[in-house]
Amino acid sequence: MFVVGGSASQQLSKELAKSLKGTLAKVEIKRFPDDECYVRIDDDLDGEDVFLVQTTWPDKNIIELFLLQDAIKEFDVSSLTTVVPYFGYARQDKQFRSGEPISARALAKLIQLNTDEFMTVDVHTPSVIDWFEDVSAKNVPGYPAVGRFLKGKGIQLVLSPDEGRADNAKRVADVVGCDADFLVKERLDGETVHIAPKSLEVKGKKVAIVDDIISTGGTIAKAAESLKEQGASRILAVCTHGLFAGEALKKLRAVCDEICSTDTIENPTTCISVASEIARVAKD
Ligand code: R5P
Repeated sequence: MFVVGGSASQQLSKELAKSLKGTLAKVEIKRFPDDECYVRIDDDLDGEDVFLVQTTWPDKNIIELFLLQDAIKEFDVSSLTTVVPYFGYARQDKQFRSGEPISARALAKLIQLNTDEFMTVDVHTPSVIDWFEDVSAKNVPGYPAVGRFLKGKGIQLVLSPDEGRADNAKRVADVVGCDADFLVKERLDGETVHIAPKSLEVKGKKVAIVDDIISTGGTIAKAAESLKEQGASRILAVCTHGLFAGEALKKLRAVCDEICSTDTIENPTTCISVASEIARVAKD
């Protein structure tokens, strides 16, 4: 069994090769002077089960994924599983206005053309998986890995930024062995918004706010500010997919004690690996 790592997912590919007891393939990836992508696999993949790992963000990594799929299929592989740890465009999962594409569907249609199976992690809208009509597709939950990490940090309360993600916070909290709640926003006047857990107190507690994606950091930074005012002793901002657009990290570092994300997007806050979760689901 071989794992082929795209340039967006080098760390995770290495970990996945270990978890699957497979071999990390030797891959050359470079850019031509005009920025077109070149890939070459320097291992013989004939007869092998192959896992290709590549996050589809930012955009140039999508093209790289298609080229790697094609290079792998040039061998006589036994099977190809395409693993997209962070599925870019999953938030454009419907037409919000007429004339728009359903971007997540557009990507799903193209990815499945050249693979036997598909896997992703904590996809923003689970129904995106249904657009993989021609191949087996699985959404791997990241919460066990996040929960194990937070358990080691002595977290006492896991919060989701809103009711919509409350189930995930509960699953994480169950792994940690602590309470869970979700945050509720209340507008006090034109300029003031009060954010607090629906039912539980944060005073004196080590709290983790857990979300699937951090993009601008606005959601978590506002929540962390309120929780500090309410006496939380320590605040960890945790996400599966750390996009950290623009000044997000600076904004979060000003109000959170620690920021952690998984290796679905490799960035300076990556400290949790979802490799064992992917391997577990792959073996199911
Ligand atoms: C929204 O539905 C997502 O779950 C995240 O809460 C959102 O993407 C976070 O965005 P930002 O970091 O820009 O507040």
